[in-house]
Amino acid sequence: MRSVGIVGIGSYVPETVMTNKDFEEFLDTSDEWIISRTGIKQRHIASKEMSVSDLCYQAGLKALADAQIAPEEVDLVIVATVTPDYAFPATACLVADRLGARNAASFDLEAGCSGFIYGVATGSQFVATGLYKTVLVIGGEALSKVLNWSDRSTCILFGDGAGAAVLQPVEDGYGFLGFELGSDGSGGLLLSQPAGGSKCPASLETVEKNLHTLQMEGKEVYKFAVRVMGDASVKVLEKAGLSKEDIDLLVPHQANIRIVDAAVKRLGISPDKVIVNLDKYGNMSAASIPVALDESFKAGRIKEGDIIVMVGFGTGLTWGACVLKWTKVGKMDD
Ligand code: ACO
Repeated sequence: MRSVGIVGIGSYVPETVMTNKDFEEFLDTSDEWIISRTGIKQRHIASKEMSVSDLCYQAGLKALADAQIAPEEVDLVIVATVTPDYAFPATACLVADRLGARNAASFDLEAGCSGFIYGVATGSQFVATGLYKTVLVIGGEALSKVLNWSDRSTCILFGDGAGAAVLQPVEDGYGFLGFELGSDGSGGLLLSQPAGGSKCPASLETVEKNLHTLQMEGKEVYKFAVRVMGDASVKVLEKAGLSKEDIDLLVPHQANIRIVDAAVKRLGISPDKVIVNLDKYGNMSAASIPVALDESFKAGRIKEGDIIVMVGFGTGLTWGACVLKWTKVGKMDD
């Protein structure tokens, strides 16, 4: 099996910023409540014309440029999202077409906020086995399109954006050292968009009842998140033969600062090794981890050989963690 790493990375968030103060104009909420309960100060919101494929396209373009790879070289495009442009066709097909990745297979993957971790775990298998050399994994969401803007317990939490990574073979011993993925469908309806699928097809009644919007049992998701973030990180480090002392950087899913803090405490690592950007973006679901990774790299916080743990949780319920020994140098000669 070949070692596989991230040789290019990029991200994109829409221009429009919505602050907590903006919510005060139409909801019974406050900047103070939102910051103290979540850590979120603002989020980026896609325009009316913009869909998730637009965000994914921009992120994918940047990742390919960063990797200095032509779109024709891409063998597979995976888009992780719960807010696809359409129920079908797959958003990945639309994004691949727009990027000019005409030699690529494409599919969407749905694992909520764990989507990017599921995506790199899936994509890297194709490269590790030698079936493909170049896989583009994009985590993107336009959650603003599926929020109930009169539900103060959910609409203040989320934002829009996309992050992308190019996977290729790398030097042995570098790249992904382990994955830990899991799911528990018994908690599936704790976080869902109930209508629009085959269980509850769209009708006037589903629209009237707001069933096409995101619904969440916040407290239950909170408890689940704190437990699995710590546990998945510990398990993935064990699989990689490493311990928490080896971590140079932790990139957690950016849902709520209280969840991140509790998970970090449970894990017992220094907070200065933890990337937090949820204050600027809110929870971007599958986009949160790759956007945070991209920002960390651009800010000079990641150097060759660093051990990075990425960990997320989300609807499904799902969770996922991976350990990455950082290098951006591809090894394409075998
Ligand atoms: N502004 C003001 N008050 C509010 C707001 C708001 N925006 N939202 C809720 N409240 C009120 C509630 O109505 C409640 O009032 P009551 O006591 O009179 O009934 C009070 O604040 C406390 O509400 P709680 O739900 O207990 O607040 P909590 O501290 O649990 O915070 C939160 C709520 C932020 C949603 C928290 O439970 C949470 O973060 N859960 C996890 C959410 C999450 O991570 N989701 C995404 C995971 S997966 C994915 O990313 C797709």
